Amino acid sequence: MRLRTSGALTLSLAAAFFLTGSAANATEVEGQKCITCHAEKQPGIVTDWKNSRHSEEGVSCIDCHSVDADSPLASQACPGVKGTATYITVAVTPNVCANCHSEQVEQFNASGHYRASLQYHAEDGRNYKSMKALMETHEGQGIEKFKNAADMTGCMQCHGSVVTLGADNRPNKEGWPAAGIGTIYPDGSVGNCVVCHTRHRFNLAEARKPAACASCHLGPDHPDIEVYNNSKHGHIYNSEGGEWNYSSPTASWEPGDYRAPTCAVCHQSGIGELESTHNISERLKWNLWAKRSNIRNSSDPLSMLTGDGEKGRALMKQVCSNCHTKTHTDNFFEQTDNHIELYNEGYFDVADKMLKELKEKGLVKKNPWDDEFQKIYYHLWHHQGRRMRHGAAMGGPDYAHWHGVFELQQDLYELKHIYKQRMAAGKIE
Ligand code: HEC
Ligand code: HEC
Ligand code: HEC
Ligand code: HEC
Ligand code: HEC
Ligand code: HEC
Ligand code: HEC
Ligand code: HEC
Repeated sequence: MRLRTSGALTLSLAAAFFLTGSAANATEVEGQKCITCHAEKQPGIVTDWKNSRHSEEGVSCIDCHSVDADSPLASQACPGVKGTATYITVAVTPNVCANCHSEQVEQFNASGHYRASLQYHAEDGRNYKSMKALMETHEGQGIEKFKNAADMTGCMQCHGSVVTLGADNRPNKEGWPAAGIGTIYPDGSVGNCVVCHTRHRFNLAEARKPAACASCHLGPDHPDIEVYNNSKHGHIYNSEGGEWNYSSPTASWEPGDYRAPTCAVCHQSGIGELESTHNISERLKWNLWAKRSNIRNSSDPLSMLTGDGEKGRALMKQVCSNCHTKTHTDNFFEQTDNHIELYNEGYFDVADKMLKELKEKGLVKKNPWDDEFQKIYYHLWHHQGRRMRHGAAMGGPDYAHWHGVFELQQDLYELKHIYKQRMAAGKIE
């Protein structure tokens, strides 16, 4: 399948509403049948839905799962609709949610989450070639039948997949099920609302707790839940967060309902005068995952620097101002920025200069994963370097220090050692 980032964007904007316009009564009767029969087949799904706001509001299976007969997703792979005029799909896309929640979908589409799958699955994606090589040639060992194994069980379960359809227009295994955030659907829409509000409860309260982010934001290369647990805010959440109120409507969920911020409070929720947003890039100043941290300055969600850095910092400070003084917040961010600049100038720039010189002299191996210098260089920015920066930004001292800068200084000595050896000998050890 040929897929391009710009094409997907156009399609997603052009995608039409495809809920059927059939008469309300007929839809209700038809809709009731889905519930009755599926209550026997998958009681788990129907019970979740019955306990949701959607059920209270009369939004049911048919409102989300039925599609027009000419939709690219149209299927009759359900005995309840086979041979009737009703078409369904198991893959409910963000376009469907947009019929009733257009604001949330637009904000999501302007965020860094939007590009999570496009950036390495689209042919013109920034990481298409390097990530294919990693997943297929190295992780899949170049064996044809295993070429998607690493993606299917790893990457795409966080980043999102490309959903393609097979017999009866059911989704193929190469792209579904996928729990990733940036799923690319055959109708051109991109995103997966279910990652934070899981189906079929679609619960607001669930998304406000750190667990909603923790399934993806963890581990050696982006340990955000670990950093949070290490922070004073996480300490308070972990000791009493079970008793807080997570159900207030967005306009009135405020300190008092909670004593310390969760991930959502800082990155998404409305607080005080600040409005709620589904654009998680909006309140950021730096890019803290890139090799070098630069200040955000782009309105393109596919750009590494999506967002407006100075404005982002001001918005984030507005969050803190609900519970802290100006001096507390200003000083905290000066401590943070200083550590990020130390990473840039004291570590990344130095390592990068050596790599460039070695490359010029032909002193690196073609396979970066089998080259001591390039392996350490990778860990320096992708693992230790991200931990140093994320730890400093979110108040996790163990990550800013022991898992961060403490390891970086050793990495850099090691890189200098290999560099000197190669430059002196004129060959790779
Ligand atoms: C608010 C929209 C919405 C409503 C209402 C809804 N669904 Fe879903 N359903 C979804 C989404 C989103 C998915 C996941 C799609 C994906 O992964 O691509 C899904 C997935 C499913 C699946 C596959 C789940 C699995 O784990 O295998 C089934 C079956 C299903 N829904 C049936 C139902 C039934 C029956 C009802 C009514 C009781 C219902 N849905 C109501 C949005 C909805
Ligand atoms: C008479 C019982 C019955 C009725 C009525 C019924 N379904 Fe189903 N549906 C099933 C069964 C059984 C399956 C599983 C089929 C399979 O896996 O082969 C299924 C499968 C599905 C799937 C998954 C399709 C896939 O690609 O795997 C969805 C989505 C679905 N039904 C939605 C609906 C909706 C929406 C309605 C109402 C318009 C509805 N169903 C009415 C019994 C029913
Ligand atoms: C046919 C219209 C319709 C569709 C389609 C729809 N919703 Fe909703 N949704 C509603 C209504 C109405 C409410 C209740 C609004 C309110 O509380 O003000 C709601 C509420 C919600 C809530 C808040 C629930 C809570 O606990 O307060 C979430 C989250 C949500 N929807 C997500 C989704 C997602 C994700 C999709 C697509 C998979 C979707 N909705 C599709 C109409 C819809
Ligand atoms: C299903 C996995 C998943 C979940 C759940 C998830 N994220 Fe993400 N998040 C990602 C991925 C993947 C990226 C990287 C996207 C990219 O840059 O291509 C990301 C990126 C981000 C970024 C950086 C965006 C940028 O512009 O660089 C922030 C901030 C973020 N997520 C916050 C959150 C918060 C807060 C939550 C919970 C409320 C959350 N995420 C839930 C997968 C997830
Ligand atoms: C556990 C979930 C998870 C897995 C598995 C995962 N990632 Fe990520 N990835 C993330 C998160 C979260 C971020 C964003 C970190 C941040 O914002 O600081 C990210 C960032 C990235 C980025 C930088 C963002 C950009 O837009 O360029 C790339 C590239 C990337 N991942 C590719 C991959 C590939 C390819 C795989 C598999 C070989 C993979 N990831 C596996 C969660 C994951
Ligand atoms: C990264 C996690 C995350 C993702 C992905 C996500 N949401 Fe949300 N959603 C939240 C959080 C957190 C809130 C509560 C915001 C607040 O407290 O102000 C929320 C609130 C909502 C609400 C309630 C708004 C209101 O004013 O009552 C709706 C509706 C909703 N989301 C729909 C969606 C739709 C549609 C998508 C897919 C485009 C989506 N969400 C994807 C985290 C997420
Ligand atoms: C007290 C507020 C606060 C809390 C709580 C918080 N964050 Fe952050 N987060 C920040 C700040 C501040 C930054 C750095 C913003 C900047 O660039 O200036 C940040 C940065 C990030 C980044 C890095 C984005 C990039 O550019 O790579 C991710 C990802 C992230 N947070 C996810 C999370 C997750 C997931 C949680 C919960 C486990 C969480 N945050 C909790 C304030 C918070
Ligand atoms: C809902 C209220 C709330 C918000 C919002 C909030 N904090 Fe906090 N914060 C607290 C509480 C409560 C403590 C614990 C104070 C103590 O240790 O006695 C705390 C502790 C801290 C600490 C540890 C140092 C200290 O004084 O104990 C730092 C640093 C911090 N917060 C920074 C921030 C930053 C930066 C933001 C905004 C990005 C922020 N906080 C947002 C409530 C909040």
